[in-house]
Amino acid sequence: MKITAEQEKSIITDILTKMDVSPEHAEIVAEVTLDADLKGFTSHGIGRFPQYVKGLKSGTIKPRGDFEIESETDSTAIINGNHLFGHYVAYKGMELAIEKAKETGIGLVGIHDSNHFGVAGYYSDMAIMSDMIGLVFANTEPAVAPIGGKIPILGTNPIAIGVPSNKHYVSVDMATSASARGKLLEAVRRGEQIPENVALDAEGNPTIDPEEALKGSILPFGAHKGYALAFMIEILAGPLVKAAFGTGVKGTANPEEMCTKGDLLIVINPSQLGDVEVFKDQVDEFIAEVKATPNVFIPGDMEVRNVKKHMEEGIEIDDKLCQQFKDIAKELDMDIKDIFSD
Ligand SMILES: NC(=O)c1ccc[n+]([C@@H]2O[C@H](COP(=O)([O-])OP(=O)(O)OC[C@H]3O[C@@H](n4cnc5c(N)ncnc54)[C@H](O)[C@@H]3O)[C@@H](O)[C@H]2O)c1
Repeated sequence: MKITAEQEKSIITDILTKMDVSPEHAEIVAEVTLDADLKGFTSHGIGRFPQYVKGLKSGTIKPRGDFEIESETDSTAIINGNHLFGHYVAYKGMELAIEKAKETGIGLVGIHDSNHFGVAGYYSDMAIMSDMIGLVFANTEPAVAPIGGKIPILGTNPIAIGVPSNKHYVSVDMATSASARGKLLEAVRRGEQIPENVALDAEGNPTIDPEEALKGSILPFGAHKGYALAFMIEILAGPLVKAAFGTGVKGTANPEEMCTKGDLLIVINPSQLGDVEVFKDQVDEFIAEVKATPNVFIPGDMEVRNVKKHMEEGIEIDDKLCQQFKDIAKELDMDIKDIFSD
């Protein structure tokens, strides 16, 4: 079945409101989750939502309250997320980084004791909308073994970079693993295999079975280069921001454990380095050069195409996910038949 963007937002906010989540937090969670599905990152869209419901039920995600700025300078801040929704804390952290970059040219906000925040690119998009460059890094529960090893020590450690332009949406948003863990969870739910060269089983052998892969490890993208990048992100989004690192990172995949991951948000304000309009024109000039060859895409093109498609055609919900929503609604004594009919 398919649902519309408005239906996705309303079902998420309704369930969160019923679970006593503050309206502002619920609105941001719904907004970021919908952004993932519209852009085609279904591994981090509504399919991930039942995990947040489990987190709320087990007390690892706090429905209300506020984060705390633990330390601050004109251009930096460290935030304690107080175990609120990761989407809310990252949204507020990005707002703060943008404010700092407006004043000083650069804003850097580190976050610890927050929760899974969905798609990294939502937050770098916020910088783009202020004519600035946004960089977002996070670490996650271990899923990736170092090259040569078979025990997961690194997370799927996403990176997003968004750049303002006059003509294009310019954004890279990706896991540093060959596959996001959410894609494995999605394959299990849908009874599908995963592509080759993505994961190893617990014995270190290649596997296309997502359940075996979840017991084993996901490969880094791009062989040693992806490993090296994930390694660095583990440090940038770990010890640098007072968060856990390596096997100490918990709670991004298992919602019943308190989350110890970290986020690093950096905003660069081009207008403090020169004329921002000249900068954006040069970005467009570069893109024109890249796109001079037919069928060449830039980072961000897929998302633009997907948003258009999903706004027009709706968002696919598989049978198992549909059933998960019916179960959640039944437990909360909610009527969701207008969206998920029998
Ligand atoms: N919250 C977390 O802990 C966490 C962890 C891992 C991943 N994620 C999220 O998962 C999502 C999916 O990650 P993924 O690794 O599966 O993404 P992916 O492999 O689909 O790669 C997406 C990126 O590649 C770009 N791209 C795709 N085809 C291209 C082409 N032909 N030319 C140029 N660029 C192209 C896209 O524009 C996009 O920026 C991301 O939103 C990421 O933030 C979140």
